[in-house]
Amino acid sequence: MPKLNVNGVVCDFEAEDDTPLLWVLREQLGLTGTKYGCGIAQCGACTVLIDGVPVRSCVRPLATLSAAEKIVTIEGLSPDGSHPVQQAWAALDVPQCGFCQSGMILAAVALLRHKPKPTDADIDAAMTNICRCGTYNRVRAAIKVVANGGDTRPAGLAIRHADGSTT
Ligand code: FES
Ligand code: FES
Repeated sequence: MPKLNVNGVVCDFEAEDDTPLLWVLREQLGLTGTKYGCGIAQCGACTVLIDGVPVRSCVRPLATLSAAEKIVTIEGLSPDGSHPVQQAWAALDVPQCGFCQSGMILAAVALLRHKPKPTDADIDAAMTNICRCGTYNRVRAAIKVVANGGDTRPAGLAIRHADGSTT
């Protein structure tokens, strides 16, 4: 029985060698935070991390994977949404419909690990995910918030608080 290391757990499953990783994650392991958008490696909705590298799981066949590789999905990024990238996403209200955002967040995590202070050009090069809701400006701003240690002020987006004030 094939095995994968997903979110720190070695999992057994039944699937053909040419099955894309996305379908094992969603249908066998119940990790539905990873989304199906295009199925042809274009949109990035299915992005997961494999040994820290963002990978489009819709086109990654099981035959190319082993349990020696560490796969991280959005569910495994943190137990409670406390990862700095998730916190920045929440602080700036980045998601609209949310469909693309798991992939966006994981792509951002990989970028920030590689380049903790990314330039606009770095962000443009790394963030190739597609968002039909057009959240690109907020994605960029949230990445900069993480790069600034969580400080939302330079992000260029006002944060509206419950009392009506903004910062
Ligand atoms: S669903 Fe994989 S890139 Fe679009
Ligand atoms: S938030 Fe809707 S597709 Fe990106």
